[in-house]
Amino acid sequence: MAKKKATKKSATKKSTTKNAVNAKKRATKRVKSEEQLVLQTVRGMRDILPGDQAYWQQIRKVFEKRATEYGFSRIDTPIIEFENIFTRPIGIGTDIVDNEMYSFRTKGGDKVALRPEMTASIARAYIQHGMMILPKPVKLFSIGPAYRYDRPQEGRYREFHQAEFDIFGEEDPILDAQVMQIAYRVLTSLGIKNIQFSVNSIGTTESRKDYLKLLKTYFRSKKNKLPSRYRDMIDTNPLRIFDAKDDKCIQVCAGAPQSIDHLDKDSRDHFKNLLEYLDELNLPYTIDPQLVRGLDYYTRTVFEISSNDENGKKHALGGGGRFDGLIEMFGGEPTPAIGFAFGVDRLIMEMKRVKAKKFKEQQPRVFLAQLGDLGKKKSLQLFADIEQAGILVAESFGRGSLQKQLRHANKLGVELTLIIGQQEALDETVIVKNMVTGTQETVARDKAITFVKKGLKQTVKLVKTK
Ligand code: HAM
Repeated sequence: MAKKKATKKSATKKSTTKNAVNAKKRATKRVKSEEQLVLQTVRGMRDILPGDQAYWQQIRKVFEKRATEYGFSRIDTPIIEFENIFTRPIGIGTDIVDNEMYSFRTKGGDKVALRPEMTASIARAYIQHGMMILPKPVKLFSIGPAYRYDRPQEGRYREFHQAEFDIFGEEDPILDAQVMQIAYRVLTSLGIKNIQFSVNSIGTTESRKDYLKLLKTYFRSKKNKLPSRYRDMIDTNPLRIFDAKDDKCIQVCAGAPQSIDHLDKDSRDHFKNLLEYLDELNLPYTIDPQLVRGLDYYTRTVFEISSNDENGKKHALGGGGRFDGLIEMFGGEPTPAIGFAFGVDRLIMEMKRVKAKKFKEQQPRVFLAQLGDLGKKKSLQLFADIEQAGILVAESFGRGSLQKQLRHANKLGVELTLIIGQQEALDETVIVKNMVTGTQETVARDKAITFVKKGLKQTVKLVKTK
């Protein structure tokens, strides 16, 4: 009896605790649900609206076409990686690592980050999946979003998109020239004009050591002329000072020793050969001895691609270079590599600016109108049948009167409109209205597709002879 009482007591206690926990959960939920909804994208992030999709489609199409032509295979890597996959190769002291990473700890305690770029992820995948055993060069292509917590402004977003081409396992500068040629061909296919490459060589990591010593000595001698926030970089990452847009920095940098004058023999020959290939390919380039790029993994060739507007303003569209040491840094065997990435958002801005021809979306040729419940039901299957026959068809299942639907069909510019009303649904027939001639005919449902195909052939002829 005493035991029974104790069990009952403990059960009551348990249920009281459970009730308290539930009450707390409800309260938390209430507070959460009372938080104001902000119906806006997070700063620096954007929706890609239907009106812009034709540009995206065109870009994807052009990239995929070029990738196949040049023998690149597509790779997609996750948006989240362990944080040090990025911090180590991109480097402490760079803007990306110091200020722009979206890093966080997972519930399991892993330190991860949203990818600020794709090259490090692709290099990780190259090693993880043993791609070193593939015949060289290994050519990989990727397209997708990347994240940098930078100050948003026109053309600079916190979520942006990159399209990337990388080649692993070959150090011949002909491949440096080839990736630049791909970049050029992509831009011309998109209708982007006045393309210009800036190119430089920053030597191997080894040969850069002496150059960096020289550079530090120079910047130390000019320390007082540099704005204070750049002074710390002299010892940590002096190359970054070249990236500064500050006038005082630009003046100091103008007199700084240049990497191109301090290359080892191999890097010098490599660069010379690259320039010869670029001349051979007739690619428009200028040598920019101060181009160093904002990521530490680069070696030897670095380049950027921009288009120039009528006022001579540069619109930066993409950049890349060699990263001969990256695979080795990750523990793989020495693997030279070269690649570049375009900022897709910027390509679209540029296509709009130069009024490049927009990807022409395929227009529907047939419209399916319906009336009444039975007509609506029947039109669902007819819609699927027309599509299966390879004919682009539009409908407005939600729209009311026949008049409204026909107005919509007219707006779309279709050649034929099919109508299923209550009577047609019962008779298993369809009305086919020729929107070019204005004539209409009732045909059996099971003959509708053949009739539509024939009708479309005739309208093509009619439109041509008009
Ligand atoms: P990156 O120069 O940092 O290089 O970025 C490449 C392109 O991405 C830029 O030229 C720009 O068009 C675009 N981009 C960068 N940040 C933003 C942003 N916040 N908003 C909009 N667009 C942006 C890299 O990321 C290297 N991983 C490229 C590479 C590939 N190097 C070798 N292989």
